[in-house]
Amino acid sequence: MSVERTFSAIKPDAVAAGQAGEILAMIQKAGFRILAMRMLRLTDSEARGFYAVHRVRPFFEGLVKFMTEGPIIVMALERENAIGALREVMGATDPAKAAEGTIRKRFASNIERNCIHGSDAPATAQTELQFFFSAADLL
Ligand code: RTP
Ligand code: MG
Repeated sequence: MSVERTFSAIKPDAVAAGQAGEILAMIQKAGFRILAMRMLRLTDSEARGFYAVHRVRPFFEGLVKFMTEGPIIVMALERENAIGALREVMGATDPAKAAEGTIRKRFASNIERNCIHGSDAPATAQTELQFFFSAADLL
């Protein structure tokens, strides 16, 4: 295991519901260091680009609409085994299947409005970090 970086975003549902502070506390209690963080609203084309891997999936249009409905909070996180560890803290995509104590179990409404995003592999973490942060942000 080595220190690794991952990308996370608190999605519009959780930002609008005032849950960002509690989600950040859970992330920090799980041992992550926040390297960089910012609040922004994705444009339609940014959301399509960010989730391009899902563009042929039936839920894609709904996902783009959801991710652009309000501000999100994007973060660069660092920890040992950060990518896998964040996915564990987040819980399953569908909150009905998420383990007790996970962020999605606690805050997600359903499989689509599921409060947080986390990169799923080293290559996507790098791409997603570069999508939102400059090299100088990530020193
Ligand atoms: P994320 O990328 O946001 O961290 O979530 P994930 O890896 O757990 O799930 P993924 O399969 O990558 O799906 C991306 C996001 O699309 C929405 N989704 N909706 N209606 C559906 O069946 C469905 N499936 C996925 C969710 O917002 C999911 O997080
Ligand atoms: Mg994913």
